[in-house]
Amino acid sequence: MCGIIGILGKSSVAHELVDALKRLEYRGYDSAGVATIEPDGTFARRRAVGKLRNLEAVLSESPLAGAIGIGHTRWATHGGVTEKNAHPHATERVAVVHNGIIENFRELKTFLIGAGHEFKSETDTEVVAHLVTRYLDEGLPPKEAVAATLKLLTGAYALLFLFPTDGDLLIGARSGPPLAIGWGDGEMYFGSDAIALAPFTDRVTYLEDGDYAVLHRSGAAIYDAADNPVQRPMVISNAAAFTVDRGNYRHFMAKEIHEQPEVIGHTLGHYLDLTAGRTRLPEASGPRASVGVGGVDWASLDRITISACGTAYYAGLVAKYWFERIARIGVDIDVASEFRYREAPLPEKGLALFVSQSGETADTLASLRYCKQHGQTIGAVVNVPASSIGREADIVFPTLAGAEIGVASTKAFTCQLSVLAALAVAAGRARGAINEAEEQALVAELAAVPRLVTEALRLELTIERLAKRISKAKDVLYLGRGTSFPLALEGALKLKEISYIHAEGYAAGELKHGPIALIDETMPVVVIAPHDRLYEKTVSNMQEVAARGGRIILITDEAGAEAISLEATETIVLPTMSDLVAPIVYAVPVQLLAYHTAVLMGTDVDQPRNLAKSVTVE
Ligand code: AGP
Repeated sequence: MCGIIGILGKSSVAHELVDALKRLEYRGYDSAGVATIEPDGTFARRRAVGKLRNLEAVLSESPLAGAIGIGHTRWATHGGVTEKNAHPHATERVAVVHNGIIENFRELKTFLIGAGHEFKSETDTEVVAHLVTRYLDEGLPPKEAVAATLKLLTGAYALLFLFPTDGDLLIGARSGPPLAIGWGDGEMYFGSDAIALAPFTDRVTYLEDGDYAVLHRSGAAIYDAADNPVQRPMVISNAAAFTVDRGNYRHFMAKEIHEQPEVIGHTLGHYLDLTAGRTRLPEASGPRASVGVGGVDWASLDRITISACGTAYYAGLVAKYWFERIARIGVDIDVASEFRYREAPLPEKGLALFVSQSGETADTLASLRYCKQHGQTIGAVVNVPASSIGREADIVFPTLAGAEIGVASTKAFTCQLSVLAALAVAAGRARGAINEAEEQALVAELAAVPRLVTEALRLELTIERLAKRISKAKDVLYLGRGTSFPLALEGALKLKEISYIHAEGYAAGELKHGPIALIDETMPVVVIAPHDRLYEKTVSNMQEVAARGGRIILITDEAGAEAISLEATETIVLPTMSDLVAPIVYAVPVQLLAYHTAVLMGTDVDQPRNLAKSVTVE
């Protein structure tokens, strides 16, 4: 995740900007930069590739004295790791730092180049600087120029703007990745989170999705996406201890659900070249560095074996559909506790993938060792690369979810799916199963995920209302087909592990083979069904449920909602999206339904009874 800081100070801010960026290093980065308005009114910028000490070296060579500035640590998503791609990006009239993905940057850039704008970087961010500049050139004041620009952007982003002509103005905007205001005494701040702001203040206001804020040293004015002035609460943050704090969320699980637009964007940026619109797997290290793509000779593989536990297993199950459909390669998958004792025969040229948030799950590690002993290439999709599973693998495919504190896995799950989707597309290209145009189309679909997840999160109030129904149930059934089937399993697991309400996930087509005997008006049935090629099949399952008095909660999209009119059916309507990304985005309502039900049940959401975050014993 990129890190953002802005300071409206009383004296030189350059070193404070760097100190705040140091508190954001936990997010990971590959370059950094700052920009200030100097005492003589000139605009100055210093950037460096690599660690912040390199930026400090640049600053000691040519110091900055300005009392207002912005800073950024960059994780490359669009364009390579170079100084010219490092933020802030600027024109003569505005400097910008950005966290997230602007999906429509290519068409915007084409338009701007056609209008005579010249670009110096490969980034999506620089497009934003030029758009604001166009509006400023048309005579709009800074606030209106930013507001007009935001309406042109598609994607998930946190943005910060500095105007060389105004030494008492910063503007910030949020749609997805977080952005917070820090309240000082005669000084004001913007930061990616309370941790960045901790050295300056513990009085923090978190912008909400769609908000933008205008800061002067005297205070802040906040506006919503419709440009209406709004109030947002000021909270006292305890981030000063540099603990991973809950921010303004009641539970870590809630915070981690809401971090998904940012961490998914960060993870995808590690596997996709969004400028070229193609996959770009991380370079493998060691002996596999020169092998195939990302360390795997995908073209020569016979089969893939996947093994994991719990939620991680469900991510692997979704990946089975993706690898088989996109890369045309067969996948065997099993829960690790069974796989490790099955003595499964394994292919001569096989890749074994192990999915694990902690990287320490005993059964998964044992399965890895079995596959290693039987000559498989070992890939680890882990959130902790230095974990046992990461260390024993030939290749690590990291999820960049950041620390996941809640025992119930949420952001790690959607980051696992994001990695596995990128691997399936890369494998498909390497095996010639898809061509360049098909790869670009799939990459563009993946680039939309942070925005789609942001939109899914906006349904939280609807989902919270439906949780009231679930909280009264003794048993709940989850149904899905295709890649929605593993989501049905995940939804049932989420509900039972944090609310203690029994739930089962089933392939919708299995309903008639037994579970339909359970259906009556006391059992809610959650149906996960985007309007895809299997939707009509699932409709008939819903009709069977309704005919027996079953009460349905349908998670679908506009077309799905319009195509159904069943009694006693509540509907959660997600944005329309491609089949590829649906399992990632549909995880959000499933997570929120379980979370709000557990809150109603009064359970210990972050530390449910009997559970551990990592099962390091059998
Ligand atoms: C998921 O919410 C659970 N906490 C659990 O099923 C977990 O996914 C499983 O124990 C695997 O853990 P890992 O990803 O750390 O290997």
